[in-house]
Amino acid sequence: MSQVEEYVKSRRKKTLEELKEILRIPSVSTLESHRKEMLRCAQLVARRMKETGLQSRILRTDRHPAVYGERIAGSGSPTVLVYGHYDVQPPDPLGLWRHDPFEPTEEEGLLYARGASDDKGQFFALLKGIEAFLNTREGPRVSVKVIVEGEEEIGSPSLRALIRQERALLSADVVVVADGSQFARDLPAITYGLKGLVFIEATVRGPSKDLHSGAYGGTVANPANVLARMLAACQGPFGRVAIPGFYDDVRSLEAWEREEFAKLPFREEEYREEIGVPKLFGEEGFTTIERKWARPTFDLNGLSSGFSGEGAKTVLPAEARAKISMRLVPDQDPSKIVRLVTDFLRSVAPDTVRVDCLTHHASKPVLLSRDGAHVRAAVRAFARAFGREPVFVREGGSIPVVNAFQEELGLESLLLGIGLPDDDAHAPNEKIRIEDVYRGAVLMGAFLEGLEA
Ligand code: BES
Ligand code: MN
Ligand code: MN
Repeated sequence: MSQVEEYVKSRRKKTLEELKEILRIPSVSTLESHRKEMLRCAQLVARRMKETGLQSRILRTDRHPAVYGERIAGSGSPTVLVYGHYDVQPPDPLGLWRHDPFEPTEEEGLLYARGASDDKGQFFALLKGIEAFLNTREGPRVSVKVIVEGEEEIGSPSLRALIRQERALLSADVVVVADGSQFARDLPAITYGLKGLVFIEATVRGPSKDLHSGAYGGTVANPANVLARMLAACQGPFGRVAIPGFYDDVRSLEAWEREEFAKLPFREEEYREEIGVPKLFGEEGFTTIERKWARPTFDLNGLSSGFSGEGAKTVLPAEARAKISMRLVPDQDPSKIVRLVTDFLRSVAPDTVRVDCLTHHASKPVLLSRDGAHVRAAVRAFARAFGREPVFVREGGSIPVVNAFQEELGLESLLLGIGLPDDDAHAPNEKIRIEDVYRGAVLMGAFLEGLEA
């Protein structure tokens, strides 16, 4: 066993307790009411960084602070920048949690809490790996920088400006991110592709107030009816997006990539079963993995209008609202897609209503290189920590800041998956396998050691 492994092993209990303390803070970035908790979480992360052996400080932004830490080695040493996020998604729907989402609970080797996998458990694992690396040698020959932000789940609105402003502070040779997952249990993965994201909220407004659906029905366009028709026009059968121009810049999958996807040990029936649908769905001519990773999507994330409480209420609602996400693939351009979609929604709306479109997010898709010295070092580190080499995967999720690192600092990111695809990120009963936290720490420690060699 290497010193890093021994270090991690001997501190398992402490690691777990420290992680739990971070998980107890409800750092929900989207809720204004949680501003204090956000700051409290940032301060705790800063303290953890200090204990790790990094010099740390809080970097203020317009909204939620980021936390920065570093330990600089001698000149000429390679520099690794580690990125993670301490903010989490809202725990809703609360009723479906088996434990308090902010009281981390251990059960059969799993740790349940909001943020356990996305991303507190994962960035914390990397931090512990850095600690193991720094504490098992006299003079480390790799510089380590860490930035943990608090706005990832709201699209990282402040981070690009922060990166630009702190260009010198954040300069490095590579970024390491653990904010995805292994391909399957005990099959680690390096992610080389992420989808882009356009998130739009469309509001259809009709009468200035709710109306009696009998007294006024038939004389006024019902915003809910109108919105339903507008949304139906956006999509054809099998989820194919019907907005003109939507597919114009979509890069086709190449044969080698389709072959690689097909070789992965993916069991469609298990996937279906785990999700609980009667049958899978998707664009014709593509496999499930291709649809997930390499085809753009259009999804309603929320719909609201009128009365949705218990029982019936006869009402003709004054307005109707839809929250729409579109996941983009290379080479779709988010601002072009925003334009296409909003123009289309307006064009299919009748003149009996007013339509407003608000863009919440617009981020580009990412493809990263699958070779080079850093990727090779990561492959070796995975082999040491997980006992086998990682597979290369793409993902359907988005991490907007990966683009900012590329564009503002010219830095490639290495996306290392520590969690599992069924950790239930963003869902009730989110969890992480405790063993994966320790293996993630060994992974990071081994990666840094590999760069020293
Ligand atoms: N960690 C996820 C992104 C992710 C998901 C990567 C699945 C790989 C696999 C991240 O925290 C996330 O949820 N991102 C948001 C971005 C958005 C709020 C701008 C997403 O993808 O919805
Ligand atoms: Mn995340
Ligand atoms: Mn997330």
